[in-house]
Parts: sequence; structure tokens; C-alpha cells
Amino acid sequence: MLVLLDQTRLPAEEIELVCTDVPALVRAIQTLAVRGAPLLGITGGYGVALAAARGFDVAEAAGLLEGARPTAVNLGYGVRRVAAAYWAASGKGEGDEAAAAAALAEARALHREDAQASRRMAEYGQALLEELLPGRAYQLLTHCNTGALVSGGEGTAFAVALRVHRQGRLRRLWVDETRPLLQGARLTAYEAARNGLAYSLLTDNAAGSLFAAGEVDAVLIGADRIAADGSVANKVGSYPLAVLAKYHHVPFIVVAPTTTVDLETPDGTSIIVEQRSGQEVTELTSPQGVSANGGGGIVVAPLGAPAYNPAFDVTPPELITAIVTEEGAISPVTGVGLAELCARSSQVTIS
Ligand code: MRU
Repeated sequence: MLVLLDQTRLPAEEIELVCTDVPALVRAIQTLAVRGAPLLGITGGYGVALAAARGFDVAEAAGLLEGARPTAVNLGYGVRRVAAAYWAASGKGEGDEAAAAAALAEARALHREDAQASRRMAEYGQALLEELLPGRAYQLLTHCNTGALVSGGEGTAFAVALRVHRQGRLRRLWVDETRPLLQGARLTAYEAARNGLAYSLLTDNAAGSLFAAGEVDAVLIGADRIAADGSVANKVGSYPLAVLAKYHHVPFIVVAPTTTVDLETPDGTSIIVEQRSGQEVTELTSPQGVSANGGGGIVVAPLGAPAYNPAFDVTPPELITAIVTEEGAISPVTGVGLAELCARSSQVTIS
């Protein structure tokens, strides 16, 4: 079985969600009980290992898991990588048990690598901030959730803020609440508080006035898919922040492992952006963090109001100051630079 921390219940309750089969895991992914690009990759990998261990059809399980959400490329990466390890072992005639063990070992390797990547991104990200804004304590603004809750380690963008905090160089982390599902308010604020960071929560709409007041030194966000040209799909609301940052001459930095780079997707227009239920916009999730589609929210719109609810938006490379990965940072963001980072990566390549 696979035991997950149910993120829909945070910050009110720390509740474990036990998944004993693939359909349950797919539901957990779709309701955002488990979420965030790197963690989706790890979870997808463990999902394949679970299917193999339980004697389910691995090809079918892989298809279901990979199709659970469309935007975060890590999900497909994790699923395909662990499935490949399973097929390689079973192709050698090692038997079902040995193939299942190979799948689990690969999922664990992916998990470990993500933790290592997280540490290195934090180092590179902090060094980049020092280069861009030398000798200062920073006010950083972040959007959505990019901490330990999305990672095998301490996260992506949040891990950079955490390192800066530990070095005594974080004046404040500005945390966008991240409507409609409030990953910033529910999850990033929770992680910031647990780690003792100086942070303030703001509505997404308040970011503009914060830039205008000169209170943002840099924006740090994660990514769900980075196309070959450096376009970045991330939680909806990231693109307007990039436009604001450009206008106010504030560095806009994307922090993500190379497993989030998808060189097969040529540009931002080719990225599939997940469209989610309008109910997430017309209702507020309850303080108990009722699941995204689970009902129980507070209705804030007329009955039957149509809603537009893309889960992500795409920021073009010309608005991004730098992309930081576990292999280093590129600035300016170019397709060539990105391809070089990926070539350096020790991440397993899967066809
Ligand atoms: O819809 P979610 O919650 O799975 O969105 C993913 C995210 O948390 C963000 O887009 C994040 O910035 C990228 S994952 C580190």
C-alpha cells in the first residue's frame, strides 16, 4: 500500500491517506490530496511499483496514472521510468516478484534523487540571489506551494527561501494565497510557520501594490512543465507576477529540477493546461480543506454561475530572469541553455 499525507486536509489536520490500489491513487492525484510536480513524479513511480506488487496490469496502471493530470511532466516521467525498470526485469525473465522489486527500487531511487536535486537547487538558487542582489537580506515573493510537500526533499523555490532564511538573509517571504485552491495559504504558510520563517500571506490581488511599494526584491516560483524554449507552466497567477516583475525590474526566478523540463514540448503554446471544475471558483474550500471536488465549500457565486478555471498559466522565457535546476542556473533563459542543463543531468533518460 501507499501512504500519503492528505494535503486537502492541511493545515487543519495531518491525516494519512492509504491507497491500496491504482484507482484510489488516481483519485488522490485528481483531488490534489497529493500534488506538486516533483511529488507527482515520485507518487506516479510508487504507483507503478504498487501495481506491480499487487499483481495488477502494469501497463494499464501506468496509463491510468500518467493520465491522471496533464500538465506536470514529472508525473509521466516517474510513471514511465519505473514501468521501464519493471519491463526490463520482467523481459529478462526474472519473474513477477523480481520485476516488482525492481520497480520499487527504481521508485526509491527517483525519490532519493529528488531529495538530492532539492538540496542542489537551494544552493544554486541562493548563490544566484547573492549574485543578483549582493549583500542584502531579501523580501521574496512566492506563489502556490513548492516546499517539502511537493518534493522528496525540502522542495524547489521554497527550498531556496529556506536556505536564505537559515543564513539569516530572509527579511520576509511574501506568500500569495493562490486562489482558487489556496495552496499558498493552506500549504506554503503552513510550511513557512513550521520552519520559523518571517512570512506574510497576501491575496493574489495584493501583489501589484506590494511591487509598487518596492517591497519585493525577487520572485521565486516552481514549475510544472518547462518547454524546450524555456516557457514555464506553473500555477495560475504566475504569469501576471512575471509581468509585474518585469515592469518593476524585479528578478523573476523559476526553480525546478530537470525532471520538469520537457524538451519534447517545443514551446508554451504546446503545453496542455489542465482545466478544472468551475466549482473550485464558485465555492471556497472549507477551513478543513475539503477536497477540491468533494463539495462542502462555501458558495460565493450565484447558483449555476459559469466559471473559467485553468489550473496553470504559461510564462514566456523573455519574462523569466533565470531558471535554476539541480545542474545550475541559466540566465538569460534560452532553449540552448536549457538543453545544456538537461544534458548534464544525471536523471535517467527514458524513451
Ligand atoms: O495544482 P498543483 O497544486 O499540483 O500545482 C502544482 C504546484 O504546486 C505549483 O504549480 C508549483 O509551483 C509547481 S510544483 C513545485
